[in-house]
Amino acid sequence: MIYKSDKNEIIDILQDWNLWKREQSSGIPREKYLARLKSFIDTNQVITITGPRRSGKSFIMKQMAKALIEKSKVKAENVLIVNLEDPRFPALSLKLLEQIYEAYLEFLSPKGQIFIFLDEVQEIESWEKWVRMMHELRKAKIIVSGSNAKLLSRELGTLLTGRHLDLTVFPLSFKEFLEFNGVILLDRLDIINRKIEIKGLLRKYLEFGSFPEAVLSEQKKEILLNYFEDIVNKDLLRRFRIRKYQDLNALVKFYLSNISSLATYRSLEKSLKISNDTIEKFSGYLEQVYLVFLLKRFSFKVREQENSPRKVYAIDTGLCNAVGFRFSENFGRLAENLVFLELKRRQALKIEKELYFWKDEYHKEVDFLIKEGLRVKELIQVCWNIRSEKTKSREIRSLLKAMDEFELDEAAIITEDDEAEEKIKGKTIRFLPLWKWLLEDE
Ligand SMILES: Nc1ncnc2c1ncn2[C@@H]1O[C@H](COP(=O)(O)OP(=O)(O)O)[C@@H](O)[C@H]1O
Ligand SMILES: [Mg+2]
Repeated sequence: MIYKSDKNEIIDILQDWNLWKREQSSGIPREKYLARLKSFIDTNQVITITGPRRSGKSFIMKQMAKALIEKSKVKAENVLIVNLEDPRFPALSLKLLEQIYEAYLEFLSPKGQIFIFLDEVQEIESWEKWVRMMHELRKAKIIVSGSNAKLLSRELGTLLTGRHLDLTVFPLSFKEFLEFNGVILLDRLDIINRKIEIKGLLRKYLEFGSFPEAVLSEQKKEILLNYFEDIVNKDLLRRFRIRKYQDLNALVKFYLSNISSLATYRSLEKSLKISNDTIEKFSGYLEQVYLVFLLKRFSFKVREQENSPRKVYAIDTGLCNAVGFRFSENFGRLAENLVFLELKRRQALKIEKELYFWKDEYHKEVDFLIKEGLRVKELIQVCWNIRSEKTKSREIRSLLKAMDEFELDEAAIITEDDEAEEKIKGKTIRFLPLWKWLLEDE
């Protein structure tokens, strides 16, 4: 039994988020994601949108809802957006979802295909049962979002196997970052002509990162520190019911100040004085909430892959700098982190891609190895300053060795500002400036 007054209250809340009568600001369009969502919408699948807190998932949902109404001629009352983070909602439960749906049907009387967006759905326990029921009975097309990779995939894994498509939203790519700064690039020539402006912005991108709100605001550092607090307190401590607050904090700080470096649980255990089990468990959590990525070493042997040290990367270079990474001394490591993030974005669009680093028994290293299907397709080295002959020949030697091993004729070295091609023993090495590589079409 639902009382009339409850329903009124629910509708009041929903009105604040929906497009039924009012305009909703939805910011700058993120076209790549919208195009992908559109292709998903046309299938008979539940859509999940995941990604770190504040990467822009809710905005993309609103943009999608708007596009349905404005471009696909869906009636406004056929689209329901539910923001489950709204503190006015009473106890979050399956019953609440049912009440929301009933109130919506009663007040809006939509006819025909309905679209329901459930934002931050993991707030509701067993939400996937309701979603599956709605999906199977074809009552609505459902799009859900959440800031935790595993929670979504585990729950969906068992209940919606083969019935969902996932979109991962990252903070802004460099191209999006330029757009958010008012720089719209029309073609390749445009990129060359505006080189100085673009390079200036790359420095900002390295320093303050690419969370949309931080990019648009003057109070960048405050915003980033707030995000950090929220991720630690809400996504980690609260969600995983962590009591060892100090251990978690020490580990997070360690990772964020050691980006683009190798880490083993054993060395961490020693320097942080935290048990191996705790480190492993917490590291998993940090990956689940997309704060930290621990890249594996490439090997055809799974055991070797699992037991090797990992390379540490963070979701945002601005976040690292805000919590104490020494920015000015470490352009090289920040640049490598940016390359990693861009490769992750490209990987998210092409699921058969796998990303690793490579290292042989003589400690020759290649920063990134990209495998597609059974074959290694790409090798990428990031070297901010290639002017020293010693560095250059070391980077090249490692690449040549890996190229031999994987029978590749081409590989790339991403640098601050060098552009060239060198042919060595019949193999080609391309040198590319980071800003240019970031703007290449994948
Ligand atoms: N496309 C966009 N245009 C302008 N601002 C944006 C955009 N996307 C996100 N933002 C800014 O970033 C903040 C966080 O975005 P939001 O969509 O709420 O992230 P999430 O839902 O992933 O936590 C927004 O409140 C807004 O200030
Ligand atoms: Mg949100």
